[in-house]
Amino acid sequence: MTKPIIAPSILASDFANLEREVKMINESKADWVHVDIMDGVFVPNLSMGLPVVEAVKRHAQKPLDVHLMIVHPERYVEAFHKAGAAIISVHVEACPHLHRNIQQIKSLGCKAGVAINPHTSVTELENIIADIDLVCVMAVNPGFGAQKFIEHTYLKVRKLRQLITESGSSALIEIDGGVNLQNAVSLREAGADVLVAGNFVFSSSTPKEVIRQLKELH
Ligand code: DX5
Ligand code: ZN
Repeated sequence: MTKPIIAPSILASDFANLEREVKMINESKADWVHVDIMDGVFVPNLSMGLPVVEAVKRHAQKPLDVHLMIVHPERYVEAFHKAGAAIISVHVEACPHLHRNIQQIKSLGCKAGVAINPHTSVTELENIIADIDLVCVMAVNPGFGAQKFIEHTYLKVRKLRQLITESGSSALIEIDGGVNLQNAVSLREAGADVLVAGNFVFSSSTPKEVIRQLKELH
């Protein structure tokens, strides 16, 4: 099996030392920088906006994986693309015109992802899976870092892996929320390609070592 893609979530980083935190990611075995955008409407919290993404981009040597937890993403995807996003994911629950949202993201030259909340079935993706580059499976309810991993996620990942295989899609499966070294092994076995980790990486006194350990999983 190939190695997982590791995407540390800067939501859990020290915002007063963002340059230092991004440089840590640069020097680590991480593959992407996961950036959580919250609007206080789709999710009950606010996080960061465009100026912060631009600032991260100035220092990041790895692709920015931007997770939009916002309503009306079509109003902002071009701005996030200009701010430096390489991958943009939108939530199926926030997008009545998901196909159009995906085409817009792809037309900008970005990779397009769809995120699904814990209660959303993977069957919701049947008619879009062939068009997307990534599915972000939420393993917690979006809005906050450092929450407990929801065990039902394993079953969803297995079903999603089957859907991807059957449809001939090349979408990657990303897991977001509560990821740690314990559940990462089972997530990989279930079919996960990308592991997002916020609290597990940034609460450690040796974040680069934690990233290396996640990366070395099979
Ligand atoms: C939650 C965010 C996650 C979060 C993950 O709404 O989408 O990306 O930062 O953080 P941890 O790994 O702390 O659960
Ligand atoms: Zn996220």
